[in-house]
Amino acid sequence: MTARAQLILANRAFLDHEAPRWADSPSTASSGGLLAAVRPVIAPWDGHSGTTWIGVGMGRFDREWVDPRGYEILETPRGPLRHRRLFFGSATWQGHYGEVANSFTWPLFHLVRVDLPRATPYYPEPQPPSAAGWQSFVVVNRAFAEAACEEDGAQSCWVHDYQLALVPAMLREREFRGPIGFFLHIPFPSLAVIRPYLSGEVRQRLAEIVRGMLGADLAGFQTPGDAERFAEAACELAGARPAAGGLEVDGRLVRVGAYPVGIDPEEVLAAARRAKPVTRVRAARELGLPVVVGLERGDFTKGIPERLRAIAEAYRQGKRFAYIGIASPTREGVEVYGALEAAIEREAARAREAAYWVGCPFTQVRAAVGWDDVVALQRDADVVFTSSLADGMNLVPLQAAIAQSLRPTEERAVVLAGVDAGVTKVYGGDGRDGLRAVDPLDQQSLLEGLTEGLEGRPARISDRFIALVRERDARSWGERFLDDLEGTC
Ligand code: F6P
Repeated sequence: MTARAQLILANRAFLDHEAPRWADSPSTASSGGLLAAVRPVIAPWDGHSGTTWIGVGMGRFDREWVDPRGYEILETPRGPLRHRRLFFGSATWQGHYGEVANSFTWPLFHLVRVDLPRATPYYPEPQPPSAAGWQSFVVVNRAFAEAACEEDGAQSCWVHDYQLALVPAMLREREFRGPIGFFLHIPFPSLAVIRPYLSGEVRQRLAEIVRGMLGADLAGFQTPGDAERFAEAACELAGARPAAGGLEVDGRLVRVGAYPVGIDPEEVLAAARRAKPVTRVRAARELGLPVVVGLERGDFTKGIPERLRAIAEAYRQGKRFAYIGIASPTREGVEVYGALEAAIEREAARAREAAYWVGCPFTQVRAAVGWDDVVALQRDADVVFTSSLADGMNLVPLQAAIAQSLRPTEERAVVLAGVDAGVTKVYGGDGRDGLRAVDPLDQQSLLEGLTEGLEGRPARISDRFIALVRERDARSWGERFLDDLEGTC
């Protein structure tokens, strides 16, 4: 790992922090896939080298402001971290986060099939942002770029994800002194698929996002497919040209590559060793029932209603198992999430009724669950059922593989994952190693996956899958990206 001073820019701050006053309010570790992947990459801050993290300190205030105390040194399990939060007024935040990041980019980038909004009525059509919304996105991105340039000692800057897609080009304009990396944690869409949405305005905003990303020296993606689709869009929308190792833009080389994220296996293992089984799992065991778990953020990309429909059908066919579904609240207040909750409720009610007639426990709740309970569920499940419509990676199957490594091979779970999730592209979804791809929009495929999974077919989580997850962990992901980034200068 590089011992140089390195800057990480991410929309989420390292800590979730409800109140503006840093030291006087309670704070909790921020959650989410990005944090899980990047946390293990942090190099301890030693006063002149190590990691500085800049993130948003929640945008709920009536004016923009900069924390008067500037930087703080946080104690983290990886050592001290230099941390800075930027604060934005609620109108700016709504435009940046509500309108652009989550009502436009997020649904557009997860559009792996053009018919998603039609096939799943709760999936929102990507909304081109208003002029004011776009301006807020620019304001937030600019604030990050300026904060980064104030960092005299920083030798490289690693910008994360779609919320900050304009930052790389802004850093370049401001002549940031070190190499600039950008990593997209979510999928990059195919122009062929989203073409029906590429009207004037959508096209223009997408082109600006792509141009922003092209400011980087190294643009990283979850899978080779994402990298290829980005290259194609960069050529069509932003005048880039294919070049050896990446793209040529304005006479310089932007390296483009696939860097699939990983997890911190030791963190999962430690929780798997200490966590007690959750009550509902114990109750299912007493009934002699296998346990199927569905764990995710309550997001419209996760395919939850379709999965619940398949669960209901399995109960109707007389299959006996306990289902524990937990969707953690996410992006509350972002309007396009409104229809999802009703769709989950409707399908959950049907599944609950079907479960009742075969005398099986069924739970689908909307709740934030503690880390130990998440890992306990992943460790004790017989089928880990994810079925995202699209996903940059989806860390649940990787965490489950590690958590289940404590069980003998013949007792381990089968993991189901959406065919368009990064995890099945990277690890393969033929089921041989216990990871089986399902088509989240095809009830037959979901039902077959579940049925086979309950029988331990085609195979339970293998030692090979566990070893691969260990090998491709978050540390090695970060090191590979940062080494390649350093190699760009
Ligand atoms: O992988 C987790 C993730 O989907 C990241 O891609 C993204 O940056 C993050 O969640 C955003 O989540 P939130 O809107 O909850 O901060």
